[in-house]
Amino acid sequence: MKLSDEIARRRTFAIISHPDAGKTTLTEKFLLYGGAVQLAGSVTARANRRKTSSDWMELEKQRGISVSSTVLQFEYEGFYVNLLDTPGHKDFSEDTYRVLTAVDAVIMVIDAGKGIESQTRKLFEICRRRGVPIFTFMNKCDRPTLEPLELLDELERVLGISAYALSWPLGNGERFKGVFDRLANQIHTFERVSGGAYRAPVSISDISDPDIREKLDSESYDSAVHELEILNEAGSSFDPLAVLRGELTPVMFGSASNNFGVQLLLDMFLKYSAAPGAHKVGERTILPEEEKFSGFVFKIQANMDPKHRDHIAFIRICSGVFRRDMTATHVQSKKTVRLSSSHKLLGQDRETVDVAYPGDVIGLVGHSSFGIGDTITEDPTIVYDEIPRFVPECFAMITGSKTEQFKRFRQGLDQLIAEGVVQPYYDASGFRREPILGAVGPLQFEVMQFRLESEYTAQSRLDNLALKMIRWLPAGTSIESVKGKLNLPGGSALVTDRQGLPALLFPEEWAIRYFTQNNPGIALLEEPPVQ
Ligand code: G4P
Repeated sequence: MKLSDEIARRRTFAIISHPDAGKTTLTEKFLLYGGAVQLAGSVTARANRRKTSSDWMELEKQRGISVSSTVLQFEYEGFYVNLLDTPGHKDFSEDTYRVLTAVDAVIMVIDAGKGIESQTRKLFEICRRRGVPIFTFMNKCDRPTLEPLELLDELERVLGISAYALSWPLGNGERFKGVFDRLANQIHTFERVSGGAYRAPVSISDISDPDIREKLDSESYDSAVHELEILNEAGSSFDPLAVLRGELTPVMFGSASNNFGVQLLLDMFLKYSAAPGAHKVGERTILPEEEKFSGFVFKIQANMDPKHRDHIAFIRICSGVFRRDMTATHVQSKKTVRLSSSHKLLGQDRETVDVAYPGDVIGLVGHSSFGIGDTITEDPTIVYDEIPRFVPECFAMITGSKTEQFKRFRQGLDQLIAEGVVQPYYDASGFRREPILGAVGPLQFEVMQFRLESEYTAQSRLDNLALKMIRWLPAGTSIESVKGKLNLPGGSALVTDRQGLPALLFPEEWAIRYFTQNNPGIALLEEPPVQ
């Protein structure tokens, strides 16, 4: 197959949702369509302590949450799909954020009984800022939902994005009987099959079919017809280009656990989402078809395989062809590297990847110098933008509990910091030897401690600090130029971040006001200055 054909059939996306909306269930069902039947263990089975293939870490099993992200790849109807899993818990939004830099589209899952929830909103904003096309799946239609028109309205009102319903639910809750495909003018009827572990039978006919009227109770039928009329009167036609520009979200209804509407969603998604496109690097545009291979690291994960101590850098390929054993430049260190140990992963299973194309994600093992945001390329003039970081809101100190474990503790701490599990800040006074750790949510600290113990057999003690905010000093300020010269409020600390940029940690908002009043001329920044 030609490179352009390989690119055209690729789709790289993530599913975002508020916890419990059904992201894991939907992922499983997609895998089912991709033929990975044995891996798409039902959520019911999960309750029996078998985990889905995308959840693998011990902590995830214990807590029943998805902490880490993995990449699932499958073929379906000629498409080659890269589905990047994202952790749902808000404390891991930083990890999710990085994953979202590597996708070309997202499917946003909403619990139709609840509507838009806080985490959906936050993740949506991130996608929107990047202009990522967003497809919406209104899930759990087998249970009572909010009024479908209200759900559409909420998308427009709360998220501020235009919505176009590609399918429409017929009946609600117990009386939910199927969905109407508005573009094809067809009805898909829903039959409850126990557990939803198999492809649900789907029969298709026209809306005017007398059978349909028979299948629905008269109230459901009338309201569906009435709602469809309202939608049609609203007039706008479906504009696939507006979807690709991130201005319009196509909306589909269904039930992931019953595997209903999932195939329709997948088909529509593949039809209206785009193949990997160009990447902007400064003034330059890198096309996927370019001959030279290039990609960027968006995630680092160590010790995925407990039997082997290793370090995997996940790379999103942006241009050219990846071939195992090729040499490329690691732009940040300017070193030439041989890319030999390349894998794709499904849960804990690994498969060697010999060839990969733009849009694909590969895991490269054994390059501990690779960091998040780094560029790996055959054309060293390409440098992809650094992946922006979340501003932490919790700070803590972590210390090794046992002297004899100190070396392992240090090693683990360094590795987990390199992975971006937490962010380190170094006390400018030199008073503290260990870094102050910053995280978006406290669960990140918990993961850190858990992994130190399970992967490095290093027990640790965590002391939460009464600090809540970080502000950076203006661009061009060196730590030496401000050390001992600032009028700092009590309880605050002058630190340097990983890039050596000076910043201040504050306990409360009043402390920032105090600083501003007592250090005129220093305008604090909410994000690190661009260097
Ligand atoms: P998440 O990854 O977004 O956090 O959600 P997940 O898929 O784990 O689903 C959360 C719960 O919602 C699960 O129930 C799941 O079975 C249920 N669910 C998902 N899709 C649907 C649907 O279409 N209809 C209904 N009625 N429920 C759905 P649970 O009680 O947490 O687990 P379990 O008892 O199913 O094992």
